[in-house]
Amino acid sequence: MALTFASLYCGCGGFDLGFTEAGYRCTGAFDIDPLAIKVHRDNLKSPTTLCDLTSTNPSLGGLRADVLLAGSPCQGFSTVGKRDPHDPRNSLLVLGGRIAVATRPRVFIAENVSGVVAGEQRRFWDALANTLRTAGFRTTDFLCDAQRMGVPQRRRRMVMVAWRRNRDFRFDIPPVTGGGLKSALEFLDGVSNHEPSTLLPNSRSAMIANHIGQGQKLSNVRSGPRSIHTWNIPEVYGRTSRRERHVLETLIRLRRQNRLRSVGDADPVTARAMSLSLGHNVRDTLKSLVRKRYVRYRNGAFDLTHTFNGKYRRLASDAPSPTVDTRFGDPRYFLHPTQHRGLTVREAARIQGFPDSFVFDGPARTQYRLVGNAVPPPMARQIASCIRDAILETP
Ligand SMILES: C[S@@+](CC[C@H](N)C(=O)[O-])C[C@H]1O[C@@H](n2cnc3c(N)ncnc32)[C@H](O)[C@@H]1O
Repeated sequence: MALTFASLYCGCGGFDLGFTEAGYRCTGAFDIDPLAIKVHRDNLKSPTTLCDLTSTNPSLGGLRADVLLAGSPCQGFSTVGKRDPHDPRNSLLVLGGRIAVATRPRVFIAENVSGVVAGEQRRFWDALANTLRTAGFRTTDFLCDAQRMGVPQRRRRMVMVAWRRNRDFRFDIPPVTGGGLKSALEFLDGVSNHEPSTLLPNSRSAMIANHIGQGQKLSNVRSGPRSIHTWNIPEVYGRTSRRERHVLETLIRLRRQNRLRSVGDADPVTARAMSLSLGHNVRDTLKSLVRKRYVRYRNGAFDLTHTFNGKYRRLASDAPSPTVDTRFGDPRYFLHPTQHRGLTVREAARIQGFPDSFVFDGPARTQYRLVGNAVPPPMARQIASCIRDAILETP
């Protein structure tokens, strides 16, 4: 008989597809989002329930499964967002553990962003482990690196496994390289969810994209070959003189040398440090740069304008993709390696390891959200096989 699994916070079913591909059968998948449930049902054809798990009885109507999955929301833990320790969604992580205690699967698996074990947020991860251990589960946790699990993407996720047998378990699988992006983005003609929308040639975004090569991004506060500065794109951000560019490059260097703060990107440079390095007449140049909005002045110090940091990041064909997130369709955040546009839903799904037969539905924004939130199916498949071999089917 096939092993079974159920899935809390199932989304469109990335985690669940991996388990299904590894030979498990789904006995129930739960989510609050009707579009996620629809896409899940259309593709995985397994029993789904549209519900708010915070107001559902934790026994889930007597749900039975060998494995219970919980890929709870990550917004309060992720370094991409506000990382708010008081985000009400953070407690959904611990709720997954309470549901495991009530439904008593043989194995419970939680997945979340790596930020869940950093700083103040770690208390939710620890509370989850405590809930499970108090109820007699053993637990372990580890970092999964998608790039080493056959996915062409830099994506690192924390995974907690809880089991009830008195035996040891270590997540130990041979690495499989995910390679570069090139093959993931080939042969897309006629494939569903692939509707490329190229930037209008004279638009501001196209003019910016023209300057950004593979592996580069728009950033004023970083130096080196991977950063293009706004003053390198005069047709959009305005012309600068050679002296102004020299002052801007010096500001980049000094803001890293004389750091006023130990973390973050805001490292203003005092007017005195600028004068010492560039002479007294630098003040006129700085005034002109403030007027042109390349530089801002606050409390006696100058800093580069931050608004553009990490925008218009162009993916490189021969390297893994940065983490696929919900903004992958927006060219202001991510550009296709060779075309002036964002990524299509299908391209994002390919980079996540979804097969082309998995079809997304609903408004474009929703589709990108479903893809970006998913556990890459190849990563899930390897976790599923490892759990089966090491815990469920070992005598
Ligand atoms: C990170 S996504 C899950 C992605 C999924 N594990 C996958 O691999 O495709 C988190 C999901 O939690 C769902 N969610 C948020 N609050 C919820 C609640 N109160 N009850 C049930 N589901 C909820 C969201 O709709 C979202 O689909």
